[in-house]
Amino acid sequence: MHLLYPFAKRFIAGEDLRTALPNIQSLNRSGFLSTIDVLGENVFTVDQAKAAKQEYLDLVQAIDKLYFPLDLSVKLTQMGLNIDPNLCRKNIKELIHAAGEHTVRLDMEGSDTTERTIQLGQDLHRTHKNLGLVLQAYLHRTKSDVDTVIEEGISTRLCKGAYKEPPELAFQDKNSIQQNFLKLAFRLLKEGFMPAIATHDEFLIQEIIRFVEKENISPKTFYFELLYGVRRDLQKILLGKGYQVRIYVPYGNSWLPYTLRRLAERKENIFFVLKSLARETFGLGKFH
Ligand code: FDA
Repeated sequence: MHLLYPFAKRFIAGEDLRTALPNIQSLNRSGFLSTIDVLGENVFTVDQAKAAKQEYLDLVQAIDKLYFPLDLSVKLTQMGLNIDPNLCRKNIKELIHAAGEHTVRLDMEGSDTTERTIQLGQDLHRTHKNLGLVLQAYLHRTKSDVDTVIEEGISTRLCKGAYKEPPELAFQDKNSIQQNFLKLAFRLLKEGFMPAIATHDEFLIQEIIRFVEKENISPKTFYFELLYGVRRDLQKILLGKGYQVRIYVPYGNSWLPYTLRRLAERKENIFFVLKSLARETFGLGKFH
């Protein structure tokens, strides 16, 4: 599977904390905020969950020296959700305590974890205001989850959703997902607490900008969020327009599942991988 690494490199800030930190600092110097993800998900043993938690604790210790508040993106299945929910809760609590003023945001995974993620997030947020959530616009249930996060004042990232879900649970076509995204985003922007609009879809971004201008919503009350290595041009344009732009920065060794999701999002990515594969196999790079 190492053949995918040239492709993966574009989307990850480093293989470990040491190599990722200069990239995070460089983003900050250019005016971007970051949400940092230590890559990993679906661990099977208590030791793996503990090791993942320790990696986040090391990250918190390192970023505390940087003097700027960050967002930490973490997956519950990385903290042991599917081994023992209590272990997972304990790990997340420990991380929230250590994180202090940094936000700990629970990434949203497949629909088998949605309810458990929202429940745990809602519960922990009552005592720890630095807990944030993520909601996916492709899920039918998200309309009511948006009501919940607005009522509870939980800072929420809205994205389209990156997992394969059945039609009973999720919109399947691009247009329905876009329309639902806009409806949910408009509510979060008007009534939610520091929402993040996470997309590279230019149509959605234009509609959001039109909406915030029409409604006089201050750019200080929300974020645009984009993935590391995706549409850097757009990242700069949004920053130049005076918006707060937060970059999702993943790093670590467990890059494969994350990379496969990025691969699936765009057919050009598959061509890129096939081209690299052909170059390695047949040495085409020497002639072109
Ligand atoms: P769309 O897929 O239509 O892409 C719009 C344009 O962006 C493309 O035409 C292309 O130019 C560019 N683009 C998008 N993806 C690309 C890629 N992989 N490679 C190269 N170019 C690409 N999902 C989830 O289920 N749970 C989560 O917690 C998160 N978290 C998250 C954080 C942030 C900051 C972002 C931006 C996204 C997520 N996602 C996520 C992923 C999200 O659900 C979705 O799969 C991707 O953002 C792709 O959808 P877009 O809205 O960007 O639109």
